[in-house]
Amino acid sequence: MTAKILDGNALAQKLRAGFKTRAEALAAQGARPGLAVVLVGENPASQVYVRNKVNACAQAGFHSEKICYPPDVSPQAVLDKIAELNADPAIHGILVQLPLPKHFDADAVLEAIAPEKDVDGFHAENVGALMQGQPRFIPCTPYGVMKFFEDAGIDLRGREAVVIGRSNIVGKPMAMLLLHAGATVTVCHSQTRDLLFHTRRADVLVAAIGRPRFVTAEMVKPGAVVIDVGINRLPGGKLCGDVDFEAVKEVASAITPVPGGVGPMTITMLLANTLEAAERTLGKM
Ligand code: GUN
Repeated sequence: MTAKILDGNALAQKLRAGFKTRAEALAAQGARPGLAVVLVGENPASQVYVRNKVNACAQAGFHSEKICYPPDVSPQAVLDKIAELNADPAIHGILVQLPLPKHFDADAVLEAIAPEKDVDGFHAENVGALMQGQPRFIPCTPYGVMKFFEDAGIDLRGREAVVIGRSNIVGKPMAMLLLHAGATVTVCHSQTRDLLFHTRRADVLVAAIGRPRFVTAEMVKPGAVVIDVGINRLPGGKLCGDVDFEAVKEVASAITPVPGGVGPMTITMLLANTLEAAERTLGKM
C-alpha cells in the first residue's frame, strides 16, 4: 500500500482563502485583525518561524508587529512590552516565540499575556479550558493536525491514537484533542519502556519528538494514519521530519510530508485564532 499524502500546503490554502475576506470585513468595522509576535534572541529556527508568521499575516490582510529583543534583554522589559500589547486595541493576538533564553521564566511570560489575546493557547487559563473541553484558543500545531483529520474524513471515535512526545506545545494538547474526539489515547515519551509495543497498536500515530526519521516502518501498524510534527535540519541543510517518510508511506494509509505537511497548517491556525480573537472583540464593542 502507498499512503495518501496529506498535503498541508493545499489544505492551508483552502482554509486561508476565506481569511482575507473576513479580515476586510473586520477592518470595515474598525477591527482589522492584529497579531504581535515577540522574539527574544537569535535562534535561527525561531527567526524563520517568526518571519513566516509575519509574512502570513501580510498575505491575509492582517496587521502585524514583530518585536525583537537581543538574547540578554531583561525579562522585565519583555513583561512591560506584553502589558503594553495587552492594552493595545490594534492587537488581538500576542505570541511570544519559544524557546526563550535560559534566564527567562517562560511560564511567567506566558501568564503575562491577556488570556483573550493568547492565540497560542499556552496561558494556564486557556490550557485549563481546553482540558475541560471548552477551548478558547486551541494551540496551533495540534489544531492544524485535527484539521487534517476533519478534511480527510477520518473519524477518530474508538480509534487507538498514540502521540510520541509530551510537550506543552504539541504532545499534551494533541492528546487532549484526540481524547475529546473520541480516540483512546496513549502518550509516549523518552521514558516509555516499550515504544514499539505502543506504536504498532496505533491507528493514528502522531510523532512530535524532534529527532530526524525516528519513526521507522517497523514501528507503524499497516494502514495507520501517520502525522509528522517534526521539523529537523539535516547536516546538509535539508529539512526532514520525525518519520522516515519514504519507508513509512509504504505501510501507512495516510501520511503528512515534511516540508509541506503540518508546518503550513500551524501558521494557518495561528491566523484562524487571530481572526477569531478579533471577531470576539467586535461582540464587545
Ligand atoms: N515554538 C515552537 N512552536 C511554537 C508555537 O507554536 N508557538 C510559540 N509561541 N513558540 C513555538
